[in-house]
Amino acid sequence: MELQILNDQKLLDSMRAEHQKLIDKKEVLVEVKDLSKYFNVGKGKTLKAVDGINFNIYKGETFGLVGESGCGKTTVGRTILNIYKPTKGDVIFRGENVKNIKGAKKVRNFKKNAQMIFQDPYSSLDARMTIGEIIGEGVKVHYPDYDENKIKNRVSNLLQLVGLNPEHGARFPHELSGGQRQRVGIARALAIDPAFIVCDEPISALDVSIQAQVVNLLNYLQWEMGLTYLFISHDLSMVQHISDRVGVMYLGNLVELADNKQLYANPLHPYTQALISAIPEADPESTTKDRIKLEGEIPSPVNKPSGCSFHTRCIHCMDICTKEVPKVTEPEPGHFVSCHLYK
Ligand SMILES: Nc1ncnc2c1ncn2[C@@H]1O[C@H](COP(=O)(O)OP(=O)(O)OP(=O)(O)O)[C@@H](O)[C@H]1O
Ligand SMILES: [Mg+2]
Repeated sequence: MELQILNDQKLLDSMRAEHQKLIDKKEVLVEVKDLSKYFNVGKGKTLKAVDGINFNIYKGETFGLVGESGCGKTTVGRTILNIYKPTKGDVIFRGENVKNIKGAKKVRNFKKNAQMIFQDPYSSLDARMTIGEIIGEGVKVHYPDYDENKIKNRVSNLLQLVGLNPEHGARFPHELSGGQRQRVGIARALAIDPAFIVCDEPISALDVSIQAQVVNLLNYLQWEMGLTYLFISHDLSMVQHISDRVGVMYLGNLVELADNKQLYANPLHPYTQALISAIPEADPESTTKDRIKLEGEIPSPVNKPSGCSFHTRCIHCMDICTKEVPKVTEPEPGHFVSCHLYK
């Protein structure tokens, strides 16, 4: 079942325009300040999964976080949600340092506002629970005054909101398709009316034909409820489609951050340039784009290269790049890059 409203382009356009007003206010919802997350991997070795990154997420926007597998995207998402404690730096959510969120009431309130949708719709749902129980679980915790009837109603509304039938509530996860399960994951996150959702590769495990449906659904829900997303993906073309601003990660660092249009029209960092040049063109005959091939393997985050962490694969590598970590510069307004090519 698809939501009828998703076929009403005129209505969707007006919702999108209305929502844009919220984004344009640039009210900061999440501040990530000099955030690092290191893991102890034994034998005295440290894995630098996230290594000193800075960015803000504005209310109502979709902030896309991209980069190759292992660059630290999920770790950023989990650290923002206080699932991991930062090794260094801070996450400020609605003006409050996430570090200081302690005690049952505060923790519950934070969890109510900040939710996560997971990559794998197969392993992220408890196989022994019905869909109704899975979605109702959060409702129960966060709305303790709700009786069984009210919970049932809310679950049924949520199922319809994500394009499922209320009858799906009685089924078990294994009786649903991947796309349907991901809708359940979305309904579960929405059940407690959050302000912010980390969407960690929410569509990667789905068929291409279903991916667009889930993206459209996420967009619609965002406009309807004024949601803010951190959208994590290794797929640049997907991120281009859904994000307002995009951050590009490489080996635990944020190498570039820009408005969606700016980033794709004028990528500054050699890594971003390579990633964008690798996006297949809609027209395979087109030769407008020179493909920049990324040479070599991604170095280990246990043993990061000196200076700029990208220098071992960079076609513009200079002497300074092997020695000094590049500072962040802003070559055009709102477009940040960390690379020695820009002073
Ligand atoms: N709990 C952990 N303990 C030790 N190392 C970890 C842990 N979680 C992540 N890592 C390591 O941190 C690095 C970043 O992992 P992360 O899962 O954040 O990457 P990612 O960008 O989300 O990758 P993918 O696109 O594959 O999901 C990887 O090298 C990973 O092996
Ligand atoms: Mg990940």
